[in-house]
Amino acid sequence: MTEATTAAIPEIVNLDELEQRAKEQLDQASYDFVAGGAGSELTLRANREAFQKITIMPRVLTGIQKVDTSTDLFGQQLSMPIYVTPMANHGVVHPLAEVGSALGAMKAGALFVAPTGSNKTMEEVATAIKESPRWFQLYFNKDPEVNKQLLQRAERVGYSAIVLTVDLPVLGIRDRNVRNSFTLTKGLHRPNFQSEQFMAATRGLQSLTASIKNDLSWDDYEWTREHTPLPVLIKGILSPSDAEEAAKRKVPGIIISNHGGRQLDTGLGAIEALRPIVDRVKGRTRILFDSGIRRGTDVFKALALGAEAVGIGRPVLWGLALYGVDGVTAVLKHLQLELVNVMRLAGVTRVADITSEYIEKHN
Ligand SMILES: Cc1cc2nc3c(=O)[nH]c(=O)nc-3n(C[C@H](O)[C@H](O)[C@H](O)COP(=O)(O)O)c2cc1C
Repeated sequence: MTEATTAAIPEIVNLDELEQRAKEQLDQASYDFVAGGAGSELTLRANREAFQKITIMPRVLTGIQKVDTSTDLFGQQLSMPIYVTPMANHGVVHPLAEVGSALGAMKAGALFVAPTGSNKTMEEVATAIKESPRWFQLYFNKDPEVNKQLLQRAERVGYSAIVLTVDLPVLGIRDRNVRNSFTLTKGLHRPNFQSEQFMAATRGLQSLTASIKNDLSWDDYEWTREHTPLPVLIKGILSPSDAEEAAKRKVPGIIISNHGGRQLDTGLGAIEALRPIVDRVKGRTRILFDSGIRRGTDVFKALALGAEAVGIGRPVLWGLALYGVDGVTAVLKHLQLELVNVMRLAGVTRVADITSEYIEKHN
């Protein structure tokens, strides 16, 4: 696994099998860091199981031949309604780290969301993908000056939206990382933080968390909005009441997510949270979704339930780990291909036409 990884990519059968391939290649601690969830991993499993309870109702004799997965998100034209969700520490699985994943997303025509806790600077990521759509995820720092600087830098180098993650007041207890005494190695650090002292202090997982304001409130959301002209989305909403508050405050977009089951254990499968929130706030704020998407059918279901786009996490890192930039592109294109297949079989031409009419059962 070097920067020169150029091996031809064997066909991806499905993203679960890709995970198995990555598991064979990665060391245990790195694989566990990515794959793992919090506690007994009940939420992690629920994220997948919940999709099975939702069934698709196809229409036939529609005369449809071609389908189009392109979509418009906050004025940006994307080839698919699937984006790379923010994940810290891509460098754990590949030396190109976030730059590799961003390039892979660009080649697939997909949006890339760069994390605060990246192993490459946000400038390096932005420079690598110049004209390609990109957002920046903010972990709200205890030090307002750090937040100001991060927001200014994000705007300066062309990130077009901020994603404020709100479901990490403390780090979920992830047994696998405890078992493996996981820490960042391979010379990895978090160069978005500029002071040397701070970089040293953010090598471990807990220390990054220690820098995050642990009593985040709506005031901090408002503060963020006041300090950037960019739209500020909120990531990590599950409760319809929180979604309602966001809509009241005219938050431009919310991301329904349980952090891929890495934070609160014994929560609901994230997709189960979507419908009640859509019922409450649809049309008053934009709704995105992540956590547990592995199939084109999952993408279809989330869109049908009212999400405008879906984020995909771990499979991107499996693609990066195995095949570098091209692996990330292959993962996104594979999911797009599966989505095309579902749209054909369900009888839908355009992303905007994927509505709840195509869902038979839901919570
Ligand atoms: C290795 C890893 C690191 C993550 N780091 C962050 C992060 O820094 N900020 C954040 O908002 N979410 C983070 N997440 C959560 C993802 O954005 C997303 O919610 C989750 O991975 C989606 O679930 P999926 O992996 O099942 O697709 C991380 C997830 C993983 C797997």
